[in-house]
Amino acid sequence: PELINITAFANALKIKPQDFLAQLGELGFEGVTLDSLMAGETAALVAQEYGYEPTVEAGDKQDLKPRPPPEDASLLPSRPPVVTIMGHVDHGKTTILDYLRQSSVAAQEHGGITQHIGAFSVKLSSGKQITFLDTPGHAAFLAMRQRGANVTDIVVLVVAADDSVKPQTLEALKHARAAKVPIIVAINKIDKGGARIDAVKSDLAGAGVEIEDFGGDVQVVCVSGKTGQGMDDLEENILTLSEILDHRSEVDGPAEGWVLESSLKPTGKVATVLVKRGTLRPGDYIAAGLTWAKIRQLRNEAGVDIAEAPPGTPVEILGWKDLPAAGDQVIQSPDEDRAKTAVSYREGLRDREKDATEYEAITEARKALQ
Ligand code: GTP
Ligand code: MG
Repeated sequence: PELINITAFANALKIKPQDFLAQLGELGFEGVTLDSLMAGETAALVAQEYGYEPTVEAGDKQDLKPRPPPEDASLLPSRPPVVTIMGHVDHGKTTILDYLRQSSVAAQEHGGITQHIGAFSVKLSSGKQITFLDTPGHAAFLAMRQRGANVTDIVVLVVAADDSVKPQTLEALKHARAAKVPIIVAINKIDKGGARIDAVKSDLAGAGVEIEDFGGDVQVVCVSGKTGQGMDDLEENILTLSEILDHRSEVDGPAEGWVLESSLKPTGKVATVLVKRGTLRPGDYIAAGLTWAKIRQLRNEAGVDIAEAPPGTPVEILGWKDLPAAGDQVIQSPDEDRAKTAVSYREGLRDREKDATEYEAITEARKALQ
C-alpha cells in the first residue's frame, strides 16, 4: 500500500510538521499525529490544497488505452448499426430476434442458426448489415454505460399489441433516454385477436414517446414475430434511421471493442466481443479488463471461423488466458509483452484501490473508537 508518514509529508511540502498538523486539523482531519500514515490518494488531494499538481505516474504509460476519437469521422468507412431490442417480459423480444436471425442470409447459407450468442449480424439481401444485441438491461450494458460507452446505436422498443405499455417498457425508455439513443417502436403480436394497436399508440404518447402518428419523429412499426408480418418494414426502418445517423469507424489501427458476454465452453474460454474500431484477426493480441488473449479463433454467430472482424461485428473470440468479464473494454496490443504489462499494471491499480479502501475503513474504525 502507498502510505506516507505525516512528518515526511510535511517535510516534502516544506512546512513545519507541527504547523502541518494544525492545518490538517483545519482541513477536517481528526486525531492525526506526526506518526500517522496517510493514503497516497488522500495525500495527493492534500498536496493539491498546497498548490502542488500530483504527477501522472509513469506506470500509466504501461496501460493500453483507447485511441483518441477521430478528428473527422465523416471521412471514415461506414459500419453496420448496432441495435438493441428492449421491452417488457414476454412481449416477444426473443421471438423477433429469432425470426430475424433465421431469415438472415447467414442463416440460409449455413442451414439455420441454432446457437444463441448474445449478438448477431443480419445480412440483408441488399448486402447491408444490421447488428443485433440480445440480453438488454443486462449488467454488462450498465457497466459499459457507466464508463461512458454506448455500445448500441438504436433501441428497438418491443410492445405487445395485446398488453401495451408496462413497467419494463418504461424502464427501457428510461435507459434509452439516459443513453441518448434513438428509438424505433415495434408493436408486436399484431396477429393476435386482442391486438389493440391504437391503444398502444396512445399509451406510448402518454409515456412521453413522440411517435410519428402524433406529429413526433419516433417511428412505429407493426410486426408479428410469429408470422413475420412487418419484419421487412422493421429492417427497412432501422436502415433508414442508421443512414441518417451515419455511423462510421476506422477499419485500421489498434482495434477496440467491448465484451458482451463470456463463458467457459467445451472449446475453451470464449468471449463475445463487439468490435467498435479497427479490425481483429486471428493471431492478434488483445487485453480486456484483467486478462489478455492471443486470438486463436474468431467465430461468427453461425459458429463459422472468420478471418477478420471489422467494426460493427459481433464475434466470438477464443484464446483467453482467463475469462474476461461482460462489460470489459477490449483493446488491441502491438505484442504479447504490452498486453501482459497492461494486465499487471491494472492488477496493481486494483490492489492499491483495495488497500486504500481498507485503510479508510481502518481510519473510520479508529475514529469511532476514540
Ligand atoms: P422475455 O425474454 O421473457 O422477457 O420474453 P420475450 O420478450 O423475449 O418474449 P418471447 O419472444 O419469449 O415471447 C413470449 C411469448 O409470446 C412466446 O410464447 C411467444 O411465442 C409469443 N409471441 C412472441 N411474438 C409473438 C407474435 O408476434 N405473435 C404471437 N401470437 N405470439 C408471439
Ligand atoms: Mg427473451
